Amino acid sequence: MKLALIGYGSVAKALEPLLQADGRFEIAGIHTRSRPAADSAEAFLDAAKAQILVELTTLNPWTGEPAVSHIRAAFARGMHVVTANKGPVAHAYRELADEAERRGLIWRFESSVMDGTPIFNQFRNNLPGVTVLGFAGVLNSTSNLAIEAMEHGESFEDGLNYARELGVAEADASFDIDGWDSAAKTAALANVLMDARTRPQNVDRSGIAGYTPAMLQDLGKQGLTVRLVSRARVGGLLSAKAEVLPRTSLLASAPGTSNVILFETDRMGTLGTMSINPGVEQTAYGVYVDLLDIAAQC
Ligand SMILES: NC(=O)c1ccc[n+]([C@@H]2O[C@H](COP(=O)([O-])OP(=O)(O)OC[C@H]3O[C@@H](n4cnc5c(N)ncnc54)[C@H](OP(=O)(O)O)[C@@H]3O)[C@@H](O)[C@H]2O)c1
Repeated sequence: MKLALIGYGSVAKALEPLLQADGRFEIAGIHTRSRPAADSAEAFLDAAKAQILVELTTLNPWTGEPAVSHIRAAFARGMHVVTANKGPVAHAYRELADEAERRGLIWRFESSVMDGTPIFNQFRNNLPGVTVLGFAGVLNSTSNLAIEAMEHGESFEDGLNYARELGVAEADASFDIDGWDSAAKTAALANVLMDARTRPQNVDRSGIAGYTPAMLQDLGKQGLTVRLVSRARVGGLLSAKAEVLPRTSLLASAPGTSNVILFETDRMGTLGTMSINPGVEQTAYGVYVDLLDIAAQC
């Protein structure tokens, strides 16, 4: 199948070897901000004549753009869409999902939360008839790395630089540290799994910027640590806030870039998923799985 790529950064580069090994997908064109392949994204999509848009642009947690517009433009041209960008899921999930359904198109976004670890596909494929009542998760790898660095006596910047080296920091790392990335993930999960019809601005948010190495080391002596925790409950407030947790709690047990989430459900009780030190290869794998899902249905 022919793919049109908008955005060609860490994730797209890690996706290419998977596509090459598979052999069924052909990249018809690549369009980026600094290296545009046409005058506009719409003109690019017209020229690429691809069946699937792979949308891998930078996150804007306040608007979901430019990804929302790119996805609308792809649907208008009869294209399926795969994205790792949580912006459109956090801002326009219901509108875009309805539009895809109206047109008989498929929209997948597994890697937008937890870097390719099955979350959305897990509920869609393996848990039919299960209702999510709420969740609590530690979903921002960059904050985890910054906290861990400070606990070891390194600086906040050291942790941030480590996240940048691994390719897991957002292009603007303040989105990670100030909780906007977590707020967008909270909204995305709530929109898809709890029909919340919300956006990141509605998530009660506080980041980890107020913590210093001395504070974290003091907490460590009391068996405590800090995590940026996303929380949601049906009918309740959504939050993405720095919380002091016992080191032994499940939510604090994930080291490095690891993420963990616990879902409270009606028929399956509490279900947990953890990814241990995921990197950009796992995000690319999630995009690949979404492409396989579309290929299997076309
Ligand atoms: N990296 C991860 O581990 C990870 C994990 C989960 C989800 N994600 C999500 O996946 C997406 C891609 O991440 P990444 O790490 O690959 O990002 P990245 O390395 O920063 O690359 C972003 C790409 O988007 C392009 N871009 C930005 N605005 C554009 C526009 N208006 N039109 C066309 N192209 C545009 C950039 O083009 P230029 O370079 O030309 O400016 C660049 O090629 C992001 O939404 C991110 O939140 C990433």
